[in-house]
Amino acid sequence: MIDKINSLKETISSLTASSEEQVEALRIKYLSKKGEVSQLFNDFRSVPADQKKAMGQALNELKNLATDKINSLREQLAVKDDIDETIDLTRTPAVMPLGSRHPLSIVKEEIISIFSRLGFTVAEGPEIEDDWHVFSSLNFAADHPARDMQDTFFIGRNPDVLLRTHTSSVQSRVMEHTQPPIRIICPGRVYRNEAISARAHCFFHQVEALYVDENVSFADLKQTLLYFAREMFGPETKIRLRPSYFPFTEPSAEMDISCNLCGGKGCSFCKHTGWVEILGCGMVDPNVLDSCGIDSKKYNGFALGMGVERITNLKYQVKDLRMFSENDRRFLLQFQSAH
Ligand code: DAH
Repeated sequence: MIDKINSLKETISSLTASSEEQVEALRIKYLSKKGEVSQLFNDFRSVPADQKKAMGQALNELKNLATDKINSLREQLAVKDDIDETIDLTRTPAVMPLGSRHPLSIVKEEIISIFSRLGFTVAEGPEIEDDWHVFSSLNFAADHPARDMQDTFFIGRNPDVLLRTHTSSVQSRVMEHTQPPIRIICPGRVYRNEAISARAHCFFHQVEALYVDENVSFADLKQTLLYFAREMFGPETKIRLRPSYFPFTEPSAEMDISCNLCGGKGCSFCKHTGWVEILGCGMVDPNVLDSCGIDSKKYNGFALGMGVERITNLKYQVKDLRMFSENDRRFLLQFQSAH
């Protein structure tokens, strides 16, 4: 009997099957009630008592071996069913094309990163705004031309629902619910009713910065601007401030940087002046602080605002504003290594 068990062990170990039906046939052949293994269990009754222990062990091993074998044949078939044999799993995969970030996002992130090193944190506000946050709270007179239909997109007939024309609206939103010290940077999209051309678009992007605290000086503003210009355009960059006017700052200025193409010597890009304009700024008008619930006798501050497209043009010499919103892959792929 032991010989029979051993030879069955060998046979069963080397069994193969290529279909469910074959596995089932093998199960019946060996493990069903009348199967060969079960038959041996019947013969076991006539084994002499002194051999029963060894024989019983051998028989159990055989039964376990047969059960495991049948199960594993079944599993192999199930796995085989899942594999599409037309696919070569050993082939090297196709290289995934590398995407690129939009140039405006790259530059926006860089501006945020420079200001965050000075302790500014990002604040955002809605693109659909009301008159108060875009104009009135920022000291725009009722008849200021910027409110005009020519410039502002109104939504529907309600003159109080409009698309923000600048991110300065986020200043007043933050000041309404925060007391100084305030140090925020507000990136976002803005809209103006302009004919689309290489030099103008009906939407573009701005970054606004606002600092309000006790004893903020114009020197603080100037030093912040110099730091920004040098971080953004290189350590040799010079800045100059020209007097200007904005309703929400007094005094106001526009900042030029030394032309980053010719280094200030004069070229066609800077119209041979050696300087290019990059942003507007000034000391926050006390009327704006008071409108937003901040005591203008105790606090003062500075603000500045810049166009992200403008800075991007300077960094990458993009000559046509429309490129930023056309999603032309040939344009976008040029910025793959820029971040
Ligand atoms: N809001 C201005 C614009 O859209 C830009 C600006 C100028 C923002 C001066 C400021 C500032 O905060 O102080 O043209």
